[in-house]
Amino acid sequence: MKTRLSVNVNKIALIRNARGSNYPDLIKVSKDIEAYGAEGITVHPRPDERHITYADIPALKAIATTEFNIEGNPRTQKFMDLVLANAPDQCTLVPDAQNALTSDSGWDTITHEAFLTETIGALKEKGIRVSIFCDPIEKFIEGAKKVGADRIEFYTGPYAENYHKDRAAAIQPYVNGAKIANELGIGINAGHDLNLDNLRYFQENIPNLLEVSIGHALVVDSLYYGLQNTVQMYLECLTVKD
Ligand code: PXP
Repeated sequence: MKTRLSVNVNKIALIRNARGSNYPDLIKVSKDIEAYGAEGITVHPRPDERHITYADIPALKAIATTEFNIEGNPRTQKFMDLVLANAPDQCTLVPDAQNALTSDSGWDTITHEAFLTETIGALKEKGIRVSIFCDPIEKFIEGAKKVGADRIEFYTGPYAENYHKDRAAAIQPYVNGAKIANELGIGINAGHDLNLDNLRYFQENIPNLLEVSIGHALVVDSLYYGLQNTVQMYLECLTVKD
């Protein structure tokens, strides 16, 4: 089964914003990333627009030829308006705090059941596939199914953190979580802190992993290997060996 690589281009926007001009050109870089073989473009606009700006969204939507995924916190009305207006292929709901440096946990799908059900319903009505950021915890995966999500995106931060200490132990909760998700018939995405070291092992051990979204490490690796090589190295990690 093929796992799609969606490249999170937030860091490209961050570099652009550092100088206040359009350099690097986010649209050109995103087109190139697709031309190099990536199967999706992901953005995570945050309320302070420190990397992706709200204005970037329609421009990216207009050029994306693979899959366009917008992540963010639906508690911000501006985020919901943006997603509904631009109808990406997929929206990934993330419970990150307003000023969070980065996402650091999945949804409590039980406490937020009513809110998630309503939000997901509104997105699906527009034909948008909905994924929700989720820790590999049985009750939250079951909750994700209950609120109507098409997919979960496993928060892989703890996996990446523990990978070098004991990778078998690090993957175990995700193996268990994937079994539950597959039994429930909910799709599985994954993201956060995945990199050239830990990606293949994750992909090999998670049956039916549909998509990974990767930003930070991929952009850092491209400083050393170049963007084209780097995209291909990540794709190679996802290639199923016979
Ligand atoms: N998934 C979510 C929900 C995220 O917030 C991020 C970071 O923006 C990622 C995936 C990608 O993580 P990384 O940049 O560490 O690859």
